[in-house]
Amino acid sequence: MLPELARRIVVEYSEAGQLVCDPMAGIGTTVLEAAALGRRAVGIELEARWEKIARANLDHVLDAASRPLAEIRRGDARRLPAVLGDLAGNVDLVVTSPPYACDVGNLDKSHWQSGGDLCPSATRNYSTDRANLGHARGERYRFAMADIYAACHAVLRPGGLLVTVTKNTRRSGRCLDLAALTVCLAERAGFSYLQHSVALLAKVNDGDLAARPSFFALTQLRKARARGEPCHLVCHEDVLAFVATSKETADAR
Ligand SMILES: C[S@@+](CC[C@H](N)C(=O)[O-])C[C@H]1O[C@@H](n2cnc3c(N)ncnc32)[C@H](O)[C@@H]1O
Repeated sequence: MLPELARRIVVEYSEAGQLVCDPMAGIGTTVLEAAALGRRAVGIELEARWEKIARANLDHVLDAASRPLAEIRRGDARRLPAVLGDLAGNVDLVVTSPPYACDVGNLDKSHWQSGGDLCPSATRNYSTDRANLGHARGERYRFAMADIYAACHAVLRPGGLLVTVTKNTRRSGRCLDLAALTVCLAERAGFSYLQHSVALLAKVNDGDLAARPSFFALTQLRKARARGEPCHLVCHEDVLAFVATSKETADAR
Protein backbone atom coordinates (compact mmCIF):
# COMPACT_ATOMS: atom_id res chain seq x y z
CA MET A 1 0.00 0.00 0.00
CA LEU A 2 1.28 3.45 -0.80
CA PRO A 3 1.77 5.26 2.56
CA GLU A 4 -0.04 8.37 1.32
CA LEU A 5 -3.07 6.28 0.34
CA ALA A 6 -3.13 4.44 3.68
CA ARG A 7 -2.92 7.79 5.49
CA ARG A 8 -5.77 9.29 3.46
CA ILE A 9 -8.00 6.25 4.10
CA VAL A 10 -7.35 6.37 7.85
CA VAL A 11 -8.10 10.13 7.94
CA GLU A 12 -11.29 9.82 5.86
CA TYR A 13 -12.78 6.75 7.54
CA SER A 14 -11.75 6.87 11.23
CA GLU A 15 -11.21 9.24 14.12
CA ALA A 16 -8.39 9.67 16.62
CA GLY A 17 -8.65 7.13 19.42
CA GLN A 18 -10.47 4.54 17.30
CA LEU A 19 -9.27 0.99 16.62
CA VAL A 20 -7.95 0.19 13.13
CA CYS A 21 -7.02 -3.30 11.94
CA ASP A 22 -5.19 -4.59 8.86
CA PRO A 23 -5.72 -8.39 8.67
CA MET A 24 -3.02 -8.86 5.98
CA ALA A 25 -0.52 -6.34 7.22
CA GLY A 26 2.54 -6.98 5.02
CA ILE A 27 5.28 -4.58 6.07
CA GLY A 28 2.85 -2.69 8.29
CA THR A 29 2.12 0.42 6.23
CA THR A 30 -1.51 0.77 7.35
CA VAL A 31 -0.68 0.10 11.00
CA LEU A 32 2.13 2.64 10.91
CA GLU A 33 0.05 5.41 9.33
CA ALA A 34 -2.91 4.73 11.65
CA ALA A 35 -0.75 4.90 14.80
CA ALA A 36 0.98 8.06 13.55
CA LEU A 37 -2.52 9.58 13.29
CA GLY A 38 -3.39 8.68 16.89
CA ARG A 39 -5.42 5.53 16.23
CA ARG A 40 -4.81 2.23 18.03
CA ALA A 41 -3.69 -0.08 15.21
CA VAL A 42 -3.32 -3.86 15.04
CA GLY A 43 -1.92 -5.69 12.02
CA ILE A 44 -2.10 -9.44 11.43
CA GLU A 45 0.44 -11.11 9.16
CA LEU A 46 0.81 -14.79 8.23
CA GLU A 47 4.53 -14.74 7.54
CA ALA A 48 7.29 -14.34 10.12
CA ARG A 49 9.40 -12.62 7.47
CA TRP A 50 6.96 -9.74 6.87
CA GLU A 51 5.98 -9.61 10.56
CA LYS A 52 9.61 -8.92 11.43
CA ILE A 53 9.98 -6.22 8.78
CA ALA A 54 6.67 -4.63 9.87
CA ARG A 55 7.90 -4.37 13.50
CA ALA A 56 11.22 -2.92 12.33
CA ASN A 57 9.27 -0.43 10.20
CA LEU A 58 7.17 0.67 13.21
CA ASP A 59 10.26 0.90 15.47
CA HIS A 60 12.11 2.93 12.86
CA VAL A 61 9.40 5.47 12.03
CA LEU A 62 7.06 5.95 14.98
CA ASP A 63 7.95 8.26 17.86
CA ALA A 64 7.75 7.32 21.54
CA ALA A 65 4.17 8.64 21.82
CA SER A 66 2.72 6.70 18.87
CA ARG A 67 4.78 3.46 18.95
CA PRO A 68 2.71 1.97 21.84
CA LEU A 69 -0.44 2.42 19.71
CA ALA A 70 0.84 0.03 17.01
CA GLU A 71 0.98 -3.75 17.21
CA ILE A 72 1.71 -6.60 14.80
CA ARG A 73 0.42 -10.09 15.56
CA ARG A 74 1.32 -13.23 13.67
CA GLY A 75 -1.71 -15.17 12.43
CA ASP A 76 -4.08 -16.15 9.67
CA ALA A 77 -6.63 -13.53 8.60
CA ARG A 78 -9.20 -16.30 8.23
CA ARG A 79 -9.05 -16.70 12.01
CA LEU A 80 -9.17 -12.98 12.76
CA PRO A 81 -11.65 -13.13 15.70
CA ALA A 82 -9.43 -15.62 17.54
CA VAL A 83 -6.24 -13.68 16.76
CA LEU A 84 -7.76 -10.40 18.00
CA GLY A 85 -9.21 -11.99 21.18
CA ASP A 86 -11.03 -9.43 23.28
CA LEU A 87 -10.60 -6.71 20.64
CA ALA A 88 -12.96 -8.65 18.36
CA GLY A 89 -16.27 -6.82 18.00
CA ASN A 90 -14.64 -3.47 18.85
CA VAL A 91 -12.80 -2.68 15.63
CA ASP A 92 -13.90 0.63 14.05
CA LEU A 93 -12.10 0.31 10.73
CA VAL A 94 -10.54 -2.56 8.78
CA VAL A 95 -8.18 -1.42 6.01
CA THR A 96 -6.51 -3.97 3.81
CA SER A 97 -4.86 -4.58 0.47
CA PRO A 98 -5.28 -8.31 -0.12
CA PRO A 99 -2.89 -10.46 -2.13
CA TYR A 100 -3.77 -10.16 -5.80
CA ALA A 101 -3.85 -13.81 -6.93
CA CYS A 102 -0.93 -13.02 -9.15
CA ASP A 103 2.66 -14.07 -9.05
CA VAL A 104 4.52 -10.78 -9.19
CA GLY A 105 7.57 -10.81 -6.95
CA ASN A 106 10.87 -8.96 -7.08
CA LEU A 107 11.54 -7.90 -10.64
CA ASP A 108 15.11 -8.54 -11.75
CA LYS A 109 15.42 -6.57 -15.01
CA SER A 110 19.14 -7.20 -15.55
CA HIS A 111 18.61 -10.97 -15.17
CA TRP A 112 15.68 -10.76 -17.63
CA GLN A 113 17.62 -8.71 -20.17
CA SER A 114 20.31 -11.38 -20.17
CA GLY A 115 17.71 -14.09 -20.95
CA GLY A 116 16.72 -15.22 -17.43
CA ASP A 117 13.46 -15.01 -15.45
CA LEU A 118 12.06 -11.51 -14.93
CA CYS A 119 10.76 -12.58 -11.55
CA PRO A 120 12.81 -15.21 -9.68
CA SER A 121 10.35 -17.88 -8.43
CA ALA A 122 11.58 -17.74 -4.80
CA THR A 123 10.38 -14.12 -4.59
CA ARG A 124 6.85 -14.74 -5.92
CA ASN A 125 3.60 -14.74 -3.97
CA TYR A 126 5.19 -13.13 -0.88
CA SER A 127 6.94 -16.43 0.02
CA THR A 128 7.25 -20.10 -0.95
CA ASP A 129 4.69 -21.02 1.77
CA ARG A 130 1.65 -22.44 -0.07
CA ALA A 131 -0.59 -21.34 2.83
CA ASN A 132 0.06 -17.74 1.78
CA LEU A 133 -2.95 -16.53 -0.22
CA GLY A 134 -0.59 -15.03 -2.77
CA HIS A 135 -0.48 -18.61 -4.13
CA ALA A 136 -4.27 -19.06 -4.27
CA ARG A 137 -5.99 -18.91 -7.64
CA GLY A 138 -9.59 -19.17 -8.92
CA GLU A 139 -12.03 -20.91 -6.55
CA ARG A 140 -9.47 -21.34 -3.81
CA TYR A 141 -8.78 -17.61 -3.80
CA ARG A 142 -12.48 -16.74 -3.81
CA PHE A 143 -13.30 -19.09 -0.93
CA ALA A 144 -10.35 -17.86 1.15
CA MET A 145 -11.19 -14.19 0.59
CA ALA A 146 -14.87 -14.90 1.39
CA ASP A 147 -13.70 -16.34 4.74
CA ILE A 148 -11.52 -13.30 5.35
CA TYR A 149 -14.31 -10.78 4.69
CA ALA A 150 -16.62 -12.80 6.96
CA ALA A 151 -13.89 -12.67 9.64
CA CYS A 152 -13.57 -8.88 9.13
CA HIS A 153 -17.33 -8.52 9.57
CA ALA A 154 -17.15 -10.55 12.79
CA VAL A 155 -14.51 -8.29 14.39
CA LEU A 156 -16.03 -4.93 13.40
CA ARG A 157 -18.48 -3.17 15.69
CA PRO A 158 -21.94 -2.71 14.12
CA GLY A 159 -21.59 0.22 11.71
CA GLY A 160 -17.81 -0.27 11.49
CA LEU A 161 -16.12 0.17 8.12
CA LEU A 162 -14.14 -2.03 5.76
CA VAL A 163 -11.93 -0.33 3.16
CA THR A 164 -10.09 -2.43 0.59
CA VAL A 165 -7.40 -1.42 -1.89
CA THR A 166 -7.13 -3.61 -4.96
CA LYS A 167 -5.78 -3.31 -8.45
CA ASN A 168 -7.18 -4.97 -11.55
CA THR A 169 -4.52 -7.02 -13.27
CA ARG A 170 -4.05 -8.66 -16.63
CA ARG A 171 -2.71 -12.10 -17.31
CA SER A 172 -2.68 -14.14 -20.50
CA GLY A 173 -4.88 -11.57 -22.20
CA ARG A 174 -7.59 -11.57 -19.52
CA CYS A 175 -8.46 -8.91 -16.99
CA LEU A 176 -8.82 -10.07 -13.41
CA ASP A 177 -11.45 -7.67 -12.07
CA LEU A 178 -10.49 -7.87 -8.42
CA ALA A 179 -12.56 -4.79 -7.52
CA ALA A 180 -15.79 -6.39 -8.82
CA LEU A 181 -14.95 -9.66 -7.08
CA THR A 182 -14.29 -7.81 -3.82
CA VAL A 183 -17.68 -6.06 -3.93
CA CYS A 184 -19.37 -9.42 -4.49
CA LEU A 185 -17.51 -11.18 -1.66
CA ALA A 186 -17.88 -8.33 0.84
CA GLU A 187 -21.64 -8.03 0.20
CA ARG A 188 -22.04 -11.78 0.71
CA ALA A 189 -20.16 -11.44 4.01
CA GLY A 190 -22.82 -8.97 5.24
CA PHE A 191 -21.32 -5.61 4.24
CA SER A 192 -23.22 -2.81 2.52
CA TYR A 193 -21.30 -1.19 -0.33
CA LEU A 194 -20.76 2.53 0.32
CA GLN A 195 -18.41 3.85 -2.31
CA HIS A 196 -15.82 3.21 -4.99
CA SER A 197 -12.98 5.74 -5.21
CA VAL A 198 -10.10 5.71 -7.63
CA ALA A 199 -6.53 6.30 -6.47
CA LEU A 200 -4.55 7.46 -9.47
CA LEU A 201 -1.03 6.12 -9.90
CA ALA A 202 0.20 9.35 -11.44
CA LYS A 203 2.29 12.38 -10.68
CA VAL A 204 1.70 15.99 -11.61
CA ASN A 205 4.26 17.32 -14.10
CA ASP A 206 3.89 21.06 -14.78
CA GLY A 207 0.14 20.79 -14.33
CA ASP A 208 -0.23 17.60 -16.41
CA LEU A 209 -0.91 14.16 -15.03
CA ALA A 210 1.86 11.69 -15.88
CA ALA A 211 0.91 8.02 -15.46
CA ARG A 212 3.14 5.96 -13.14
CA PRO A 213 2.18 2.37 -14.01
CA SER A 214 4.06 -0.57 -12.61
CA PHE A 215 6.66 -2.19 -14.83
CA PHE A 216 4.57 -5.40 -14.79
CA ALA A 217 1.39 -3.58 -15.93
CA LEU A 218 3.33 -1.94 -18.76
CA THR A 219 4.84 -5.25 -19.91
CA GLN A 220 1.44 -7.02 -19.88
CA LEU A 221 -0.12 -4.15 -21.83
CA ARG A 222 2.60 -4.15 -24.48
CA LYS A 223 2.13 -7.90 -24.97
CA ALA A 224 -1.66 -7.50 -25.24
CA ARG A 225 -1.27 -4.70 -27.80
CA ALA A 226 1.20 -6.81 -29.79
CA ARG A 227 -1.49 -9.54 -29.93
CA GLY A 228 -3.90 -6.93 -31.36
CA GLU A 229 -6.01 -6.53 -28.17
CA PRO A 230 -7.13 -2.88 -27.79
CA CYS A 231 -6.36 -2.64 -24.06
CA HIS A 232 -5.50 0.45 -22.06
CA LEU A 233 -3.11 0.88 -19.22
CA VAL A 234 -4.46 0.40 -15.69
CA CYS A 235 -2.82 3.17 -13.69
CA HIS A 236 -5.08 3.38 -10.69
CA GLU A 237 -6.00 1.38 -7.63
CA ASP A 238 -9.59 0.78 -6.57
CA VAL A 239 -10.52 1.92 -3.08
CA LEU A 240 -13.77 0.30 -1.96
CA ALA A 241 -15.61 1.27 1.22
CA PHE A 242 -18.21 -0.90 2.97
CA VAL A 243 -20.19 -0.66 6.19
CA ALA A 244 -20.77 -3.65 8.47
CA THR A 245 -24.53 -3.97 8.64
CA SER A 246 -26.23 -5.86 11.46
CA LYS A 247 -27.27 -9.46 10.78
CA GLU A 248 -30.96 -8.39 10.66
CA THR A 249 -30.25 -5.72 8.03
CA ALA A 250 -28.14 -8.13 5.99
CA ASP A 251 -30.92 -10.78 6.15
CA ALA A 252 -33.56 -8.21 5.12
CA ARG A 253 -31.50 -7.28 2.07
C1 LIG B 1 -0.59 -6.98 -0.67
S1 LIG B 1 0.28 -7.51 0.76
C2 LIG B 1 -0.18 -6.32 1.98
C3 LIG B 1 0.73 -5.13 1.97
C4 LIG B 1 0.45 -4.16 3.08
N1 LIG B 1 -0.86 -3.49 2.93
C5 LIG B 1 1.56 -3.10 3.15
O1 LIG B 1 1.38 -1.99 2.66
O2 LIG B 1 2.62 -3.45 3.65
C6 LIG B 1 -0.63 -8.92 1.28
C7 LIG B 1 -0.06 -9.58 2.54
O3 LIG B 1 -0.97 -10.61 2.94
C8 LIG B 1 -0.22 -11.62 3.58
N2 LIG B 1 -1.07 -12.81 3.68
C9 LIG B 1 -1.32 -13.74 2.72
N3 LIG B 1 -2.17 -14.66 3.18
C10 LIG B 1 -2.49 -14.30 4.46
C11 LIG B 1 -3.34 -14.85 5.46
N4 LIG B 1 -4.05 -15.96 5.24
N5 LIG B 1 -3.42 -14.22 6.66
C12 LIG B 1 -2.70 -13.08 6.90
N6 LIG B 1 -1.87 -12.53 6.00
C13 LIG B 1 -1.77 -13.12 4.79
C14 LIG B 1 1.01 -11.75 2.68
O4 LIG B 1 2.08 -12.40 3.35
C15 LIG B 1 1.29 -10.28 2.35
O5 LIG B 1 2.21 -9.75 3.27
